[in-house]
Amino acid sequence: MKIAMIVAMDEDGCIGNQGDLPWRLKSDIARFKSLTEADGYNAVIMGRKTWDSLPDSFRPLPERVNIVMSRDTGWSHADAGVALYPGRAIEIAYAEACDECWVIGGAQIYAMFLDQIEEIHVTTVHTLGSGDVKFPEWDRNGWSETVVEKLEGDGDNAFATTYSIWNKS
Ligand SMILES: NC(=O)c1ccc[n+]([C@@H]2O[C@H](COP(=O)([O-])OP(=O)(O)OC[C@H]3O[C@@H](n4cnc5c(N)ncnc54)[C@H](OP(=O)(O)O)[C@@H]3O)[C@@H](O)[C@H]2O)c1
Repeated sequence: MKIAMIVAMDEDGCIGNQGDLPWRLKSDIARFKSLTEADGYNAVIMGRKTWDSLPDSFRPLPERVNIVMSRDTGWSHADAGVALYPGRAIEIAYAEACDECWVIGGAQIYAMFLDQIEEIHVTTVHTLGSGDVKFPEWDRNGWSETVVEKLEGDGDNAFATTYSIWNKS
């Protein structure tokens, strides 16, 4: 099973603002859907706060096994698996026979998995100081970047973006 991470961050590393995404980027939402759904049977691992931030109409994220990390032993939801520790989240994805498992945030969940991941899909949003939650410290020495796509901002995308895949070398 492939395990990868996906994140959109601004040039300061900001990923969230007041419990939500800081920007409206239609192209990035579409890419997120296409990558994490792909053609197979995939899982997404997210923190309980990110789960809470999803609009009802997108919760659970369709066509994917939704795994929510919480330390609250009383937390449950009919449409999601719950994991109290990182290994349990991966176990659920294995048990579901998923082809790919995507770590989709937020910051606390990225921090937990960063050392265990060898592929990170990063959309850099070309603006600064977008919010109150940042991607954890990430030493990019020993990682290589492949730039896949650069897009200008427009009516559907608040800022220009660069989409890259980072691999541990
Ligand atoms: N730009 C992006 O790509 C992106 C992606 C995802 C999210 N976001 C944004 O990021 C923000 C949310 O990030 P966040 O860091 O505040 O929250 P988060 O990582 O989504 O969720 C944090 C929660 O995860 C649970 N958790 C944390 N560590 C755990 C552990 N060791 N074991 C089990 N459960 C654990 C806890 O849930 P309990 O409190 O229930 O115990 C904790 O409150 C939002 O603004 C969201 O919109 C951005």
